[in-house]
Amino acid sequence: MSGPLVVLVGPMGVGKSTVGELLAGLLSTGYRDTDADVVAAAGKPIPEIFFDEGEEHFRALERQAVRTALAEHTGVLSLGGGAVLDDTTRALLAGQPVVYLSMDVEEAVKRVGLNTARPLLAVNPRRQWRELMEARRHLYTEVARATVATDGRTPDEVARAVLDALEPQERGDGPAAPGQETT
Ligand code: S3P
Repeated sequence: MSGPLVVLVGPMGVGKSTVGELLAGLLSTGYRDTDADVVAAAGKPIPEIFFDEGEEHFRALERQAVRTALAEHTGVLSLGGGAVLDDTTRALLAGQPVVYLSMDVEEAVKRVGLNTARPLLAVNPRRQWRELMEARRHLYTEVARATVATDGRTPDEVARAVLDALEPQERGDGPAAPGQETT
């Protein structure tokens, strides 16, 4: 079967890129990130796309990047934190080995803080985070086959937990329940 071995979703700063690259190493496969694909297609950094053309335009570029990556990539794929907001993108993820990397608010503030490279969290990060997660948590769990909590874990521990979460599927035991929590 073609398509990615793992698709990582979850909020900005949760470690999708770091964990994704580690996972790709563990699985001896390639790593791809739709944020990077969008930047390449637009020819400018993400904050500039938001500033110049707005979020809706960014989401359209992202939708296209996800569609292409799902069709082309057979390794580990990470999506931008807001990709699940788009109905079409969520539909594209149906049947894919999607894992939701989660973290609580304290971990988020510690990791993302006032990082202005993330335009959606540039002002009042704690409140923005809570609002963002209220709008998105159910979308992450909707598309994901498994949830892996990252709080207090090293990227390597998270990568191994992702493999454990997907293992029943790889053994052919059938898909885990959507939104299944792993320890
Ligand atoms: C976004 C998350 C970012 C990037 C853009 C929008 C979001 O990706 O796609 O800044 O809406 O949460 P990361 O999750 O990789 O930071």
